[in-house]
Amino acid sequence: MKRLAVVVLAAGQGTRMKSERAKVLHPVLGLPMIAYPLAVARALGPERVVVVVGAQADKVKESLQGSGVRFALQKEQKGTAHAVKAALPALRGFAGDVVALYGDSTLLRPETLKQLVRLHRRKKADMTLITADLPDPFGYGRIIRDPNGAILGIVEQKDCTPEQHALTEFNPGIYCYRSDFLKKALPRVRNNNRQKEYYLTDLVEIAVKGGKQVASLKIADAAELMGINTRLELAQAATALRARINQAHCLAGVTIEDPDSAWIEPEVGIGKDTVIERGVRLCGRTTIGPECVIEMNVRIEDSWIRPGARIKAGSVLEECEVGEGTQVGPMAHLRPGSVIGRDARIGNFVETKKARIGNGAKLSHLTYAGDAEIGKNVNIGCGFITCNYDGEKKHKTVIEDDVFVGSDTQTVAPVKIGKGAYIGSGSTITRDVPAGALALTRAPLVIKEGWTQKRKAKKAGKK
Ligand code: UD1
Ligand code: CA
Repeated sequence: MKRLAVVVLAAGQGTRMKSERAKVLHPVLGLPMIAYPLAVARALGPERVVVVVGAQADKVKESLQGSGVRFALQKEQKGTAHAVKAALPALRGFAGDVVALYGDSTLLRPETLKQLVRLHRRKKADMTLITADLPDPFGYGRIIRDPNGAILGIVEQKDCTPEQHALTEFNPGIYCYRSDFLKKALPRVRNNNRQKEYYLTDLVEIAVKGGKQVASLKIADAAELMGINTRLELAQAATALRARINQAHCLAGVTIEDPDSAWIEPEVGIGKDTVIERGVRLCGRTTIGPECVIEMNVRIEDSWIRPGARIKAGSVLEECEVGEGTQVGPMAHLRPGSVIGRDARIGNFVETKKARIGNGAKLSHLTYAGDAEIGKNVNIGCGFITCNYDGEKKHKTVIEDDVFVGSDTQTVAPVKIGKGAYIGSGSTITRDVPAGALALTRAPLVIKEGWTQKRKAKKAGKK
């Protein structure tokens, strides 16, 4: 939208969170709280976005690095009007409409904000605010109207009379101002209230008294407007957001067996006809292709799962890639840098780290593959270990295509097993094995016939 600026207030510490961490940095579904109002702000395509920082300013700025917003510093937190005032230098030279919202409005939708700006412009208002009704809008400022329904002001919860307390229409803290009105009115806000703060909400009364035009947009769904002040509200907001995300995936063709138990973060993509079972957690920048099955209690973070893959129960995958049609788990752990090819098998209790594993390779049981390159159609038996660490450095293991590795084998890196080689069970491989060779280590097998009976007889003799 043209001639539009957005100011997001994020300077408060958030005392009610009872935390060392600034409120807007608390993660909601894996992203810092502030990321949400900011995404909504940017969806409007404004000329400028200003974030007002104060408490833990450096950390808040760091969390928004590269987002192209301007920062304004509110050194001391003297209230929401004081915070917007701190943003004015960043609005120098800007003329148009200024949307102001709070850094804790996590559930707000871009459409709602667009609606606000459109109404504000259509009504040629000096300021427009969103309102909604809640049976008990505890903690929120109440909207005061005259008998004809015209808005007179906003009274904070803490400053309410008992009658005002009973009002159901509340202020979610989302406003649109003409910039010239905002610049003139802000210096007139006083701090003569319970909290000795400069309230942004006082601009309503200042506008009304100055004969300015105040408009309002009443929203039916109050849930979208909730602010987060406590950990309880943090959890409630995350639940609401999760429901919204899961619903969108369902409607887009993903089967989510139990949406209440699926934790799917906002940046996750999921293809059609994929099935998400109970208790799955998909985090960060994860992409799941179509026709995959993600079985119960799987956690996947920043990973790419290609079409038709199946991730079996209890597996944990981090920063890895799983090829088309590949099966992983149950209870496998793919650590960062694991890249698994097509139609491969990573079985139960297998751990991989920085490992490239070729198409059709099988590591079916109880294996560790770290710092390894494992070729196509390699078959690795049960209980294989790449000994990649000598106590000081990590070393690389290369196993070329079509190698067969018998069960209970270790390779001591750096080491290379040539194409098509065969490693006998129970071997410890400490040197390179040429292509096509058989390698095995064998301690001589000792068999002493009748040994147990002899031992028994000896024991009996001692008694
Ligand atoms: C505010 C509104 C209240 C509204 C509610 C909606 C005021 C006075 N009250 O109350 O009417 O119902 O939000 O959620 O505006 N902040 C700063 N600098 C400050 C103070 C606050 O940047 O000096 C920021 C905070 O980081 C936060 C936002 O402003 O993101 C709102 O502050 P908060 O303390 O949560 O306001 P409420 O008391 O909830
Ligand atoms: Ca709040």
